[in-house]
Amino acid sequence: MTDTQLERGPALSLLAETSVQSFESTVEYLEWLYGRRIDDRADPSSLEWLNRLIKSGARGHGHIDNEMHVEVLGNTLSETELAKFLSAYYWGSNYGFNKKVLPETLRATDNDWYREYIKGIIREENTPSSHWGIFKRFMESLDFDLGEMPESAQEFVAKNSAGYQAELGHAIGYALAVEVESDFQLSLISLPLLERYPEKTAETLFFDIHLDSSGEEEHARATCETVEKLLAAGEVSRADIEAGFTQAILDTRDFMLAMLHEVKG
Ligand SMILES: [Fe+2]
Ligand SMILES: [Fe+2]
Repeated sequence: MTDTQLERGPALSLLAETSVQSFESTVEYLEWLYGRRIDDRADPSSLEWLNRLIKSGARGHGHIDNEMHVEVLGNTLSETELAKFLSAYYWGSNYGFNKKVLPETLRATDNDWYREYIKGIIREENTPSSHWGIFKRFMESLDFDLGEMPESAQEFVAKNSAGYQAELGHAIGYALAVEVESDFQLSLISLPLLERYPEKTAETLFFDIHLDSSGEEEHARATCETVEKLLAAGEVSRADIEAGFTQAILDTRDFMLAMLHEVKG
């Protein structure tokens, strides 16, 4: 990528867009960001209830404006606290998801559509190279220590595995929430980093590949496609999908709160 392309990347575009807004509070900023990243995208499904679930399923659970999100987007963490947060995030959402949750799920399931779906996500997570590797190199460029997998991440990986390997409807609903939500979460992590470490953050591909419409938005659309196939075949129910979706939001919120406890503890 040339410098000009980097300047036009989705992470820097989002930063430019936020810089002309004014917010009364970080909670208001989080709400705006959620609206921008999730509400404003094109409906991926022909099913009205599924589009509603995607746009509103994370609301009402104290997740969007949880204290960890407020600290991260508000840029109020010290450098040591931020490094600790990013390390736990790496172990839980990057390394753990890619090295444990996805491969273990592939081994555990025999439903062909779900297997194809998981394989597709594994492929994506390794394009152009492993996303956890890209994040690891970003951490190293900041001189942040990755340490070992903290308790918060261990618990989150265990919950993620349970969600992805639950009964099929629950599992695909869980996966859908993970893909929808991560666009918002990666956006709120990228913005303070772009402000604090503009060069290193602009240099890494990590945020651009995820915030691009070919990133998490496309993963969510692909998940939706699998949901629709499974629904049409009568293999899953709407109630199970909705329950799985909610569970993933609660697990992600609790991971954030557990990280806050570690970071501040
Ligand atoms: Fe990724
Ligand atoms: Fe994804």
